[in-house]
Amino acid sequence: MLRGGVLRFAGIRTRLMSSVAQPRLKSFKIYRWNPDQPEVKPKLQEFKVDLNNCGPMILDALLKIKDEQDASLTFRRSCREGICGSCAMNIGGRNTLACLCKIDQDTSKKVKIYPLPHMFIVKDLVPDMTNFYQQYKSVKPWLQRTSYPKDGKEVLQSIEDRKKLDGLYECILCACCSTSCPSYWWNQEEYLGPAVLMQSYRWLVDSRDQATQERRDMLNNSMSLYRCHTIMNCTKTCPKGLNPGEAIAKIKQQLAFQ
Ligand code: SF4
Ligand code: SF4
Ligand code: FES
Repeated sequence: MLRGGVLRFAGIRTRLMSSVAQPRLKSFKIYRWNPDQPEVKPKLQEFKVDLNNCGPMILDALLKIKDEQDASLTFRRSCREGICGSCAMNIGGRNTLACLCKIDQDTSKKVKIYPLPHMFIVKDLVPDMTNFYQQYKSVKPWLQRTSYPKDGKEVLQSIEDRKKLDGLYECILCACCSTSCPSYWWNQEEYLGPAVLMQSYRWLVDSRDQATQERRDMLNNSMSLYRCHTIMNCTKTCPKGLNPGEAIAKIKQQLAFQ
């Protein structure tokens, strides 16, 4: 009886000791810039987070820093599951979504976090997406038709034609691809960039759309499409595993053989 009690006590003591784990402090160096102090240059600010008390993703660490260390740290996020596209940023040198990016558990390595590259910055990790959204609007990303079924019902599509949209409609417009593209960095005003071009292609291959020629004509100039030099940074970085580089190649093929 006594021996069993001693063993139980020893077990509880071991559990208590293991629950008081050593802190595992990880350094996060985060880009900071405040538009209210334009005379102060942008800088990297270092924060330390105990990984024992933090969720597994970079977004968890950012939220923890904002909640517990510096409420002024500014970044976008909403869904925390790779659906809204708002937490796109440059983490460890790669454009990706903070909510889908796991924290490297090696505490000897610091992680650097910047906003999406070559964008105007609103504050800290928040880029100005105005130009990107205007470009998206310019390709008229909606179904365009001049005629409608006589029965007044839906415009039908075969299973085969519907399959052509797979790998295109899943894009969440996070802009990771466009802001990793050197051609987009240097010609952002005129080159549409991989994300918007892939959405343009999404409508070019939609069997229900009747504005195909107009869509092709809009892209058929030296800047909107042909600034893509097939460097393929875009496809490499897409956090949703999509292939905008291939979509661009298919648009070029359509224009070449029309
Ligand atoms: S394939 Fe084209 S769009 Fe993609 S990164 Fe290269 S140049 Fe940019
Ligand atoms: S193609 Fe990928 S990286 Fe580009 S905007 Fe869409 S989801 Fe983001
Ligand atoms: S928070 Fe929505 S994609 Fe990351």
